[in-house]
Amino acid sequence: MKLESLDWEVLDRLRQTFLSDAKSAGPYWHTMTDLECYDLTYGERIGWKWDAVLRELKSRHWNLSPGTTILDWGCGSGIAGRRVVDFLGVTNVSQLVVHDHSALAMDFAVHRAKQVFPAMSVERADYRFLEGDEPFELLVVSHVLNELDDLGRAQLTSLCSRAKSILWVEPGTHEASRLLGDWREKLRQSGLNVVAPCPHQNGCGMLAPGNERHWCHFFAAPVPNIYADSAWVKFGQRAGIDLRSLPYSFLVLDRRPNVMPVGYSRIIGEARHFKGYAKLFNCDTAGVADLMLQKRDAPALFKALKNAHEPGLQKWSHGNGRITQVEVLSDQESPA
Ligand SMILES: C[S@@+](CC[C@H](N)C(=O)[O-])C[C@H]1O[C@@H](n2cnc3c(N)ncnc32)[C@H](O)[C@@H]1O
Repeated sequence: MKLESLDWEVLDRLRQTFLSDAKSAGPYWHTMTDLECYDLTYGERIGWKWDAVLRELKSRHWNLSPGTTILDWGCGSGIAGRRVVDFLGVTNVSQLVVHDHSALAMDFAVHRAKQVFPAMSVERADYRFLEGDEPFELLVVSHVLNELDDLGRAQLTSLCSRAKSILWVEPGTHEASRLLGDWREKLRQSGLNVVAPCPHQNGCGMLAPGNERHWCHFFAAPVPNIYADSAWVKFGQRAGIDLRSLPYSFLVLDRRPNVMPVGYSRIIGEARHFKGYAKLFNCDTAGVADLMLQKRDAPALFKALKNAHEPGLQKWSHGNGRITQVEVLSDQESPA
């Protein structure tokens, strides 16, 4: 199937499912066509969000040793697992294991991964793997949080306790992001180290009293010229999606000692530019806070933030709600 031959009725039905409570009422994939249409559209957009997360991890030199077993849990069409295999390098992956409560989804994910990586071992997770207690290297979770029932949450909790590293991407909505924040707290307290997005290992500032209206989210760089593609334009219109906007929330955790030096900050969402100053919501070791950046204090950074997608980590001091000293970070200085 190609973008030009999408089944719009299938996509309309999936959209209705995602927007309603039906998404939590059990498997909703009816045919392989559902998964194919999803993979090319909703799934591909999720892939672009994964690309942003993986670009950041690459720039921070985060990697795993060769011989990695990846479990893509709630795999759907398997887009997340495939993006992660690409990132790690197929020769570094010993096995991609997929799981979903839909057997159809697992079939599709296995089939597609074998097509893309013919030399790699790809399998459905069997009962022993899912219910065992052996540690494994990497758990991949993508866009499942708002579909889970208690049993699903319990299974995921148990898998998190066995995974040496976790890569987790969710939509950039208030609901999904704050749910992910709760998981961060639980997993941090169980001994996992937070690699990203947080520039610290403390409790999440977003969850502190008074910050209920905020949520931790970021925007992936939009795909160039997407509006020149009539199939994407039609998809955007029918799905009610602004194609240029790719909001996501994410979490990267692992059991290795975190070597990130202190003193970094991160912009939540995007900076808002006004004449001569910008406002941004800042996260650092002290929590989250609204800050102002005066153009005259850091003209280069002011300009860079205006044009930047995925600005990543920053290093600056602030006082009385105003950014004071800015340190320009080179690629080499990015914390590992
Ligand atoms: C929105 S789709 C996301 C699929 C894929 N991870 C992605 O990012 O494109 C959510 C997937 O989670 C699966 N799912 C929901 N609840 C589940 C559960 N309790 N156990 C396993 N899979 C579940 C659904 O069947 C569906 O394939």
